[in-house]
Amino acid sequence: MRELFEPVTVGALELPNRLVMAPMTRSRAYGGLATELTAEYYAQRAGAGLIVTEGTQPSVIGQGYVNTPGLHSPEQVAAWRKVTDAVHEKGGRIVVQLMHSGRIGHPVLYPDGALPVAPSALASGQKLFTADGMLDHPTPREMTAEDIARTIEDFAAAARNAREAGFDGVELHGANGYLIHQFLADGSNRRTDAYGGAVAGRIRFAVEVAGAVADAIGPERTGIRVSPGAAVNGITESDTAELYPALARALAPLGLAYLHVMETGDRESTRAIRAAWPGALILNPHPEANPLPSAPEAGAGALREGLADAIAYARLWLANPDLPERIAAGGPYNEADPATFYGGDHRGYTDYPSLGA
Ligand SMILES: Cc1cc2nc3c(=O)[nH]c(=O)nc-3n(C[C@H](O)[C@H](O)[C@H](O)COP(=O)(O)O)c2cc1C
Repeated sequence: MRELFEPVTVGALELPNRLVMAPMTRSRAYGGLATELTAEYYAQRAGAGLIVTEGTQPSVIGQGYVNTPGLHSPEQVAAWRKVTDAVHEKGGRIVVQLMHSGRIGHPVLYPDGALPVAPSALASGQKLFTADGMLDHPTPREMTAEDIARTIEDFAAAARNAREAGFDGVELHGANGYLIHQFLADGSNRRTDAYGGAVAGRIRFAVEVAGAVADAIGPERTGIRVSPGAAVNGITESDTAELYPALARALAPLGLAYLHVMETGDRESTRAIRAAWPGALILNPHPEANPLPSAPEAGAGALREGLADAIAYARLWLANPDLPERIAAGGPYNEADPATFYGGDHRGYTDYPSLGA
């Protein structure tokens, strides 16, 4: 397991180890603002080679869940500054995941009650959890060419805000059925213009967002996450094997810091992406044989075979603030409690004990 503890360069970032904290929505950003508790939570995990924050909306209409943080107002920037300062004071590195949820949204989340937007007017078939119970996602409004241009600019503006807030970079959320994934997948993208149709059209939005963000803050501080074949949030892809290597090849000339692959049991797909991607690859490993949540051992083999340059875990980090120490010691590990994943207070957030605590 020594390899997990070797340093690695990822774009502009020097990671002292290859253990990345994967993004996790925690829905404790009341009013869209990170709090002192948020700062404490991430600072506790500053031993990670890299922290990727919870999904953060780049615009009002990009919000998909209750009490998620944003990066589109001065108050949000100031609130995040306390988090990045706390992580940096502990010697860590932290990038923010920019997540536009597209059709995985709801008018109750927006002050003007607007419809969520998406590549095509196709509902997700899923529901939103709110204080008033579960609400059906509505049929979204199909984005116009102007909407697309403005949304790309929203991502770039949020990335500039991220740097102002002290983040070391941004990760674009292209996974799990949110806006960028909705453009990639043929089940949710039925457009007949340049942003739809064949693979070359469906990857265009992702590549243009990445290009605009790279122009805004530097490609060496820009990463992107994908989840090939993940049938979540109503997503269907008929051509995963062609789609993701094509995306990797189209992104390659931008010189991004990293590509983050969330595996959904399909190791072959990861191998094909690795072959098409010349840059750093962060893998959230899920080979089919692997029990959930990702076992600490799952990453070591992927590193050794050169499939990945760093390994991301989510639930292990959620429950084990001192994960590197625990892996080095061969465990034991605290178990994550799903009842406290979303919303609430410090319980299940900042009170998971470290070894010896
Ligand atoms: C509570 C929770 C919230 C999550 N939120 C996000 C998110 O905001 N963005 C994202 O890309 N993935 C999100 N994920 C997915 C994780 O990053 C990760 O891919 C998944 O949990 C599998 O990894 P694991 O087995 O190490 O937990 C979330 C997972 C959990 C458990």
